[in-house]
Amino acid sequence: MKLWHRLALAFSGLTTLAMLLALSVTLAVFKHAQERGLDEELFERAATEAAEVTLLGGRRLNIEQAPSDASNNLVQLVKYGAVFAADGTLITHTVTFGDRTPALVALGYRPGGALPFRGFDFVFGEQILRGVLVRVHTDPPELLLLAAPRDDLDSDVLYLLRAMAMVFCAVVLASAGAGLWLGARLTRGIKRIAQVARRVSEGELGARVDDASLGRDREIVRLGGDLNQMITRTQALLEAERRFVSNAAHELRSPLSALRGELELALRHPRTVEAYRAAIDEALGDTNRLVDLAEDLLTLARVSALRAAEPVAAAAVVAQAIAASGARHQAAVDTDVEPVWVIGQSGALVRLLRNLIDNAATHAPEGSPVRVSVHASDGWVRLAVEDDGAGVEENVRQRMFEPFARGSLEREASGAGLGLAIARDIARAHGGELRLESPAHPTRFVALLPAVAAASAADE
Ligand SMILES: Nc1ncnc2c1ncn2[C@@H]1O[C@H](COP(=O)(O)OP(=O)(O)OP(=O)(O)O)[C@@H](O)[C@H]1O
Ligand SMILES: [Mg+2]
Repeated sequence: MKLWHRLALAFSGLTTLAMLLALSVTLAVFKHAQERGLDEELFERAATEAAEVTLLGGRRLNIEQAPSDASNNLVQLVKYGAVFAADGTLITHTVTFGDRTPALVALGYRPGGALPFRGFDFVFGEQILRGVLVRVHTDPPELLLLAAPRDDLDSDVLYLLRAMAMVFCAVVLASAGAGLWLGARLTRGIKRIAQVARRVSEGELGARVDDASLGRDREIVRLGGDLNQMITRTQALLEAERRFVSNAAHELRSPLSALRGELELALRHPRTVEAYRAAIDEALGDTNRLVDLAEDLLTLARVSALRAAEPVAAAAVVAQAIAASGARHQAAVDTDVEPVWVIGQSGALVRLLRNLIDNAATHAPEGSPVRVSVHASDGWVRLAVEDDGAGVEENVRQRMFEPFARGSLEREASGAGLGLAIARDIARAHGGELRLESPAHPTRFVALLPAVAAASAADE
């Protein structure tokens, strides 16, 4: 069953139920009020009658003896009366009862028992009468039964019931219509959103939900907005992935073609041992570049799966990073390291810092040191790497954290432009962040990493 049919059904079902409940309660209250009204009239009339019966010695009833047509007034309806002795023996009755006056026991009264404090119904011939039983203060005491037909009362209830049935049918029809309309209105927006989702899943990434077509329901409009946002993000991710793959292929192709060129050249003519050695050396250099690139790509792919695990001493990370990067260049590294601990994965943190030191060392002017500092504050460890080079080129700043983004200096060197992308991913995988705090004079990159609380670090 379609969603909007279900909604319509639920709406009209609930409305019908509520209506049914309200009408039943109204009818019950009305019926009860009518009965109480009749009972009051009957008791009032019975009291008057009982007083008269007392006066006349219990042998006469003052009630009209013959049926009358003028029966609009409730009092006029009281046509049935009978006087009983305390033991239930019939003493006198109106002609309307004829010889079919009901016995007290048949009315549910046991001689000597308590009198019913409300009216009661009983069958008389083909009609139902409502009667009351009161005590007549004669000596010995007698009982007076006074009754009136329920017809009038029942016809009022029936009239109300008919009116209610008509209202009920009208409301059920209206609520079914309203339910269908409401269901269609509510699901219209969802249908439009589903259409867009389907188009996107079929590959049409340019599809967007048109806000204006969603109506005014805030939740639906928000859902449409969220979907649009999700599509935009997915599109950006897919584009980034495509760019990444084509950049990676390009980066792999350059050293591979160089390698092939060198090997082909070496094979073209017979050469001296030295010339072969030189060619092999060059080929080895290209192979190393390829291995480095493959390792960087692998690191980048694995960083997101990194799980920060143990407290790591910042001083150890700095020492290892300097040692690892020192193998590549000769720039001096000045350090200012507080004895703090970081929660993380030691190897990855060393890699992060090494990438920053490598970059700084590449850009630092001859004889100028790279400065590495580690300080803790507010639960964070601030790891800064500074150099006095010319700074990050302006056109690189926007994209430098993206894979394969490189400045003009690096384009000629061997770097693939993955260093900062890897470093930022590592920082984020640790719940931290990597920022360029100062783009020039000095150039300063800062990694913020979650610190270990002093007490737990002391335990280590
Ligand atoms: N300390 C720095 N001073 C000036 N420019 C920098 C500095 N660090 C990074 N950059 C700029 O950011 C670019 C991206 O750096 P990243 O480390 O990602 O790549 P790379 O160093 O070129 O190559 P790789 O790190 O993969 O060997 C660099 O090419 C450079 O232009
Ligand atoms: Mg680098």
